[in-house]
Amino acid sequence: MRETLIIIILVFLTVYSCKKENEQFTIPDYKNWKQPVNAVLDTPISGHGESYRLIYANETAFKSKIIKEIDKSRVSMNEGSVIVKEVFEKREDVGYKIPGLFIMIKNSNDPDAINGWVYYMKKPGKDAVEVKWRMCVGCHEAANEKHPYFDGNKNGMFRDYLFTLIAK
Ligand code: HEC
Repeated sequence: MRETLIIIILVFLTVYSCKKENEQFTIPDYKNWKQPVNAVLDTPISGHGESYRLIYANETAFKSKIIKEIDKSRVSMNEGSVIVKEVFEKREDVGYKIPGLFIMIKNSNDPDAINGWVYYMKKPGKDAVEVKWRMCVGCHEAANEKHPYFDGNKNGMFRDYLFTLIAK
């Protein structure tokens, strides 16, 4: 009897603490934001299988600047920049089905931030989860070097962990 009670309390505490964590984050109303790339992206990303993707960014992100320095320019994304990537499994689902979401928020003051960014992932119909492990950043570090996507970042400019060039 006592064990049962303890288990019930433990389950309750676990559920409650998870819930509290998820409640801290609401999905931004990104559908009216501008798209840095006006296309459905379908270049295969290694290890991700086939998918069709759309990117949206808020005004704060679009106001970010490329800092021109004598030897090398670098991107500095504004604090408060939010980038949302919609991920669809099939091309015909784009704009029709509920997509998965990959979200990056520039918030250097957040203790969970990795190099200034907080990463979230949301599967359709599920709560958004914060990705505190290196899964996202491990790949996004490659954006700061020469890579095979978009313009390829041929000069190896520091792009502030974004493959898409949003800053001007
Ligand atoms: C295997 C490499 C890889 C991993 C892992 C990865 N991404 Fe990306 N991500 C990319 C590439 C490449 C792009 C460029 C756009 C495209 O083709 O989808 C991108 C684009 C993005 C964008 C649009 C901004 C930009 O950088 O162009 C967001 C937002 C994003 N990813 C979020 C995430 C989040 C959140 C995670 C972790 C849950 C994640 N990504 C994991 C490779 C990766």
